[in-house]
Amino acid sequence: MVTERLSMRNMTKTYGTNTVVKNVNFSVLPGEVHALVGENGAGKSTLLNMLSGVTMATSGEIFVDGEKAVITKPTDARDYGIAMIHQELQNIPELTVFQNMFLGNPKTKGGVFVDKDREAKRAKEILFELDPDIDPWEKIKNLKGYLSSRSLKLLERYWLTQKLSLWTSQLPL
Ligand SMILES: Nc1ncnc2c1ncn2[C@@H]1O[C@H](COP(=O)(O)OP(=O)(O)OP(=O)(O)O)[C@@H](O)[C@H]1O
Ligand SMILES: [Mg+2]
Repeated sequence: MVTERLSMRNMTKTYGTNTVVKNVNFSVLPGEVHALVGENGAGKSTLLNMLSGVTMATSGEIFVDGEKAVITKPTDARDYGIAMIHQELQNIPELTVFQNMFLGNPKTKGGVFVDKDREAKRAKEILFELDPDIDPWEKIKNLKGYLSSRSLKLLERYWLTQKLSLWTSQLPL
């Protein structure tokens, strides 16, 4: 029997007296692709937020490759190869293009200090393939109109290609 790559069992999330996700079971076999569909407020984001460590489940269990996974924060999920592209991808306008690209996943010197030069160099390489006009050192707030929205798409593409696996109900289309 093939072991499930991912399994969520009896996932429940309660806010106050309001249970917004109730006893949800969801499994994925290796190589499978799923679409999670539901009306607004159905709980799709909440379920995936629990999977990706954005919010803690009230109860329920997550298994990765048959082993119980402990996910209490986004970096835990990342360590299991779980990544989420959020519905509203937000960039920080005061930061540069490359800083936004490496937010939450920085390149470091000696594992401690952020290595801006290495980040900028890598950003330049990635952006060059997609659009050589974008300067990685430019602040997001200074990117204008068409360039700005195009850059956002590029950043999304970057995230999509960087992640080992992708769990999301909300690909920015
Ligand atoms: N932090 C929160 N506090 C209280 N209630 C919340 C919170 N986050 C979500 N909810 C509620 O949980 C329910 C499920 O919301 P959720 O965002 O998971 O739905 P969704 O399926 O992703 O909807 P959409 O299609 O609009 O993205 C909604 O009723 C929402 O109001
Ligand atoms: Mg949602």
